[in-house]
Amino acid sequence: MQSVLFICTGNYYRSRFAEILFNRLAEKTKLEWRAGSRGLATEMCRGLPGVISPFTVEAIAKRELTCESVTRAPTQLSVEDLNRAHRVIALKQAEHRPLMIARYPGWEDRIEYWHVHDLDGASPEVALSEIETNVRDLVEELSSDVSEDQIYAIIGEEGFRRLVASFYAQIPHDPVIGPMYPKDDLVGAEQRMRDFLIQRFGGPTRYSQERGHPRLRMRHAPFAIDVNARNSWAGMMDRALDEAAFPANVDQVLRKFMRDTATFMVNR
Ligand code: HEM
Repeated sequence: MQSVLFICTGNYYRSRFAEILFNRLAEKTKLEWRAGSRGLATEMCRGLPGVISPFTVEAIAKRELTCESVTRAPTQLSVEDLNRAHRVIALKQAEHRPLMIARYPGWEDRIEYWHVHDLDGASPEVALSEIETNVRDLVEELSSDVSEDQIYAIIGEEGFRRLVASFYAQIPHDPVIGPMYPKDDLVGAEQRMRDFLIQRFGGPTRYSQERGHPRLRMRHAPFAIDVNARNSWAGMMDRALDEAAFPANVDQVLRKFMRDTATFMVNR
């Protein structure tokens, strides 16, 4: 089961509605995803009535949705929540990006943003129906998931060439990762990575013909990969994926694979 985490300021109104609606639709469509929700500054909701906004409760009732999370109190976001979720969506970029920078620095570019106003910018009818449209689109997007071995057929040799070229263009400039790579054979390293990914995602098996079994953890053992190095590597790959601008379902599978494999490479 994969997870999407919705974030707003107080975890009282917008993100709660997104969570509840997403879970209901996911259940109904048998989507292997579930949502959670968190707040960036839950202290701002102290003193408000109840544990969830009356507007959210009303919108839920109107749509005949049910969910246990209606009874839980707003919950502050944690770094563990961010690490655990497969997708993280903050409800309003203009409001939440600055809060991400202030409270979870480094994460601001690793999450997605919608543009749904709080009560000061839009009525609950408008804001909550915007959330509903976004959530329905998201469920539809996630329902059209591709499997790993279909990816080569979709983006082809060209797609992998672009992705890996954009990743390797960043390597020499990275103070942590740059020095680990062979300066005189970056072209060779780029090709090994490209062939590996092509094989891994359903394309020709050149990598194994040339290099044998991937055994990636063993091959990375000579390099000191701590969490910092892992994050630099994954950050560069995230940027390469942003630049490549693959279809959303392809992007999602590749991003998750890269992040998970990078975590698996940590050896210090
Ligand atoms: C987590 C941080 C990582 C660091 C610091 C790192 C670093 C390196 C370095 C220095 C090399 C040697 C370059 C060469 O001469 O080929 C290498 C090779 C390679 N890396 Fe990584 N890597 C990381 C993660 C990953 C991940 C996540 C993948 C897969 C998605 C990957 C796939 C490969 C492959 C396929 C090779 C070539 C292996 C071979 O055939 O020799 N690496 N990596």
